[in-house]
Amino acid sequence: MEQIIIGNYKDIEEKRARIVQVNGVEISVFKLSSGEIRAIENRCPHKGGKLSEGIVSGHHVFCPLHDWKIDMNDGVVQAPDEGCIATYQVTVAENGDLQLDPNPVLSDTSCEAS
Ligand code: FES
Repeated sequence: MEQIIIGNYKDIEEKRARIVQVNGVEISVFKLSSGEIRAIENRCPHKGGKLSEGIVSGHHVFCPLHDWKIDMNDGVVQAPDEGCIATYQVTVAENGDLQLDPNPVLSDTSCEAS
């Protein structure tokens, strides 16, 4: 499986994100308050808000523009809004390197990485 090293675990603060460009797609890599890492496309399916600037709550992020709530586990927008974004698998290596699989995981086939 292809893996890209996108930085180190200690470089991201809790409830913050770091932005990486992979194959022309901007990806936001978050550290949750639990310490887990989640990576999602950095583009809100509503009007393109930068999710990296959103408020993190558990495994959800609220878009900074109009407050849509997106589940970072599967990229699905929470009701009453609708839509989805691509998510990416990140593994934390023993030395803290963050290894990202550049192939998006789409929870829904109608949802494609831009
Ligand atoms: S652009 Fe994200 S909620 Fe509108």
